[in-house]
Amino acid sequence: MTVENATDTQLENNEALVVFTPSGKRGKFAIGTPLLQAARDLGVDIDSVCGGRGICGRCKVNIGEGDFAKHGITSKAGNISGQSETERLYEIQNGKLDGRRLSCSTQVLGDVVVDVPPESQVHKQVVRKRAEVHDIALNPMVRLHVVEVAEPDMHDPTSDLTRLKDALEFEWGLSDLKIDYALLPVLQKILREGKWQVTVAVYNEESIIALWPGYKEKIYGVSVDVGSTTIAAHLCDLETGDVLASSGLMNPQIRYGEDLMSRVSYVMMNPGGEVEMTSAVQQGLDHLIAELCNEAAIDTSEVLDVTLVGNPVMHHLFLGIDPIELGGAPFALTIDGGLSVKASEIGLHLHSGSRAYVLPCIAGHVGADTAGVVLSEAPYGDDPMTLLVDVGTNAEIVLGNRNKLLACSSPTGPAFEGAQISGGQRAAAGAIERVRIDKDSLEPKFQVIGSGLWSNEEGFKRSIQDTGVTGICGSGIIEVVAEMFLAEIINVDGVIDGQLASRSDRIVADGRTFSYVLQKGGEEGVLDIRITQNDVRAIQLAKAALYAGIKLLMDKARIEKVDRIRLAGAFGSHIDVKYAMVLGLIPDCDLAQVSSAGNAAGTGSRIALLDKTSRDEIEQVVRTIEKIETALEPKFQDYFVDAMAMPNKVDIFTELAKVVTLPEPKIAPREEQKGSDGGRRRRRRG
Ligand code: FES
Repeated sequence: MTVENATDTQLENNEALVVFTPSGKRGKFAIGTPLLQAARDLGVDIDSVCGGRGICGRCKVNIGEGDFAKHGITSKAGNISGQSETERLYEIQNGKLDGRRLSCSTQVLGDVVVDVPPESQVHKQVVRKRAEVHDIALNPMVRLHVVEVAEPDMHDPTSDLTRLKDALEFEWGLSDLKIDYALLPVLQKILREGKWQVTVAVYNEESIIALWPGYKEKIYGVSVDVGSTTIAAHLCDLETGDVLASSGLMNPQIRYGEDLMSRVSYVMMNPGGEVEMTSAVQQGLDHLIAELCNEAAIDTSEVLDVTLVGNPVMHHLFLGIDPIELGGAPFALTIDGGLSVKASEIGLHLHSGSRAYVLPCIAGHVGADTAGVVLSEAPYGDDPMTLLVDVGTNAEIVLGNRNKLLACSSPTGPAFEGAQISGGQRAAAGAIERVRIDKDSLEPKFQVIGSGLWSNEEGFKRSIQDTGVTGICGSGIIEVVAEMFLAEIINVDGVIDGQLASRSDRIVADGRTFSYVLQKGGEEGVLDIRITQNDVRAIQLAKAALYAGIKLLMDKARIEKVDRIRLAGAFGSHIDVKYAMVLGLIPDCDLAQVSSAGNAAGTGSRIALLDKTSRDEIEQVVRTIEKIETALEPKFQDYFVDAMAMPNKVDIFTELAKVVTLPEPKIAPREEQKGSDGGRRRRRRG
């Protein structure tokens, strides 16, 4: 190494000051010290896979030029060594470094400021799309390490494995590593094929799980959300955190029953049925991962880690555990903690060493999917009292902040998903998803999925000519019932006002009750779509169950108001939060603080994939969550009855009243509850 560019002072002292940004870490180093070494000595976060061999390019840095008053030094490119042969070769193979330097092959010659760009940091942040949620720290469970293994020597007769482990300890400080048995038959071949240079995949700094001859640049992981209806998965680059491909498929278990309980019943009625269902979902996911890899042009053997979330029944069935105990009280889980297994043990055909991690379940009704939501939204790290609601056949509810978290589930039934509703259907092209009703004429207009137009706009018919209008999906049902309430077609008790039939042909008798005609049938191919009294009742029952569960948690948390509400899942993504509040699905809250959390369960799965520390974090948090069993709470029934009214018999909706004019009640409010409720207020419209 030459030192021509160093200053006399530095040469005299034979050391120079190096300052790393953005960390600000600084120290004096002997002239000739590689920058990567200086960074490591100071604990500066710089990535490396090749161990300083100038192959991986992960260690790129920028050299500061000029006076850095803040750091008290003058930095210049001349204060580090010039382009090395290694860098020249790197540029030939990988393209220009564009002024950056490989810190592993650049030496300190004088005082210098070294900037580590985000992409060169080991624990880089993966930016999440929604600004209000913190980014993910990239810290995967599986990491790649390149090593040179000593060749066998007659005078030092150690095994190939011992020398491999020695190299990992010497070069990477990894000690006491175990190795997967499946690698032993191929170990010698790989070492010799790589001419004693190999890339090793190490799981959690504990186990060697994969080996490749020479330099291997990339490995991948898949995060999965196993829903009752759909399985969604993301293929991620474990070195950058980038999502390379995303896809979903219908859960193949659907042929055994649409909802969870019918699948549990199938197992009860058909001994061994759980084996069929386990293999259906495992094969489905195996196929889905193969599709993702195909799309990203990688081999499935390069997928080394998989994370999974799912509700308790899905969780058990996916793991091959009989879910019968979850079908009835006391809803005992087989396992509630997080679980790490080999991917092959859950039917995935990836690399022999690939691992899978399943997030913990919270309770028999509150699954690993909710743990994913909690991890994604992280209310445990914040002050505002946050309500997380994941609406499905069961609503899974979490409430709390950094001081305490509570969780319960509430049996909402499938009405919010369009089931049990006369014109209900899944969210698909042709389904009504938005509804407005004119308060004077009681005439509706609506939008359907697949067309951006309102039904009274020109071109609407043309826009739906392929699909027609086929029914109402969950968000459409919420809107139409809420709009019926705002237009006073239904009263606070949810009764359709038959007297309006004389004013509008949209109100029609249906036996002893009345219905509201949302779309008049008659013309060829045009379905008669109406909201019956039974439909309104089904929505009331579902929303009352949800609200009663929330109220129980608010009681337990001793609060009268929540600070913010996040609605998770597909339903939460599509409903208009204002209408959800008009109906009283959720408690009164500043509407600006009510929003969709998107597929938060899936995001939680991705966080667990990319940041291994989050696995311990969520396992600890889940252990501290207080589980409330709604069936055992005497107040649940009272809260349920109150919540049958729109938006609620006794609770005040002052925040909602700032943006919506609620109808004046036309019936006498129910007598104020006495006794156990501690004297709750009479109903007041805000
Ligand atoms: Fe791999 Fe520098 S550490 S190129």
